[in-house]
Amino acid sequence: MKIAIYPGSFDPVTLGHLDIIERASTLFDKLIVVVMHNAAKSPMFTVEERMDFLRCTTSHLNNVEVDGFSGLLANYAAQRGACTIVKGLRAMSDFEYEFQMALTNRKLNPDVETVFLTTSAKYMYLSSSMVKDIAQHGGKVADFVPAQIEEEIFQRMRKDG
Ligand code: COA
Repeated sequence: MKIAIYPGSFDPVTLGHLDIIERASTLFDKLIVVVMHNAAKSPMFTVEERMDFLRCTTSHLNNVEVDGFSGLLANYAAQRGACTIVKGLRAMSDFEYEFQMALTNRKLNPDVETVFLTTSAKYMYLSSSMVKDIAQHGGKVADFVPAQIEEEIFQRMRKDG
């Protein structure tokens, strides 16, 4: 069974992430979307909230599982028997960082390959920070996040004031 993992902060999941998930799910027997900790970021949503967002937006994909993990991605891949790490590549600006992470992960776990899926052109500019910024300023995020979570993001921003 070919198992791939798609890691990220997903704070929150966007239509760009969903595009990668839908396409990657056709390439592997199983795709595990895993909410991870990025030491450089202070997330707005808890790991559980981010996992719930992912679960309700990927419920139509039978071979997709959502999980959470805090630790090294290379260890998680070994633990889950994954042969591939999937990452989305948006623009040249992503390349250097992704290249560095892919090489580091291969050093830490030589049994896992990183593959890059090019983001669909319409989502090239998208990021989770941009979504949060728009929502915090009262803007509509319907064009950027899956419909199922738009209202929850809006309510959360209202609650946080
Ligand atoms: N569509 C839309 N947005 C996308 C996207 C796509 N296809 N692909 C990436 N993005 C956005 C993300 O939302 C994120 O936005 P943000 O910076 O506003 O939050 C940004 O692009 C960067 O994404 P990414 O490079 O995947 O970073 P991340 O924070 O989501 O995930 C981890 C990074 C969690 C995978 C990485 O830090 C990690 O592996 N941590 C575990 C610890 C570890 O193993 N460290 C050693 C790694 S070598």
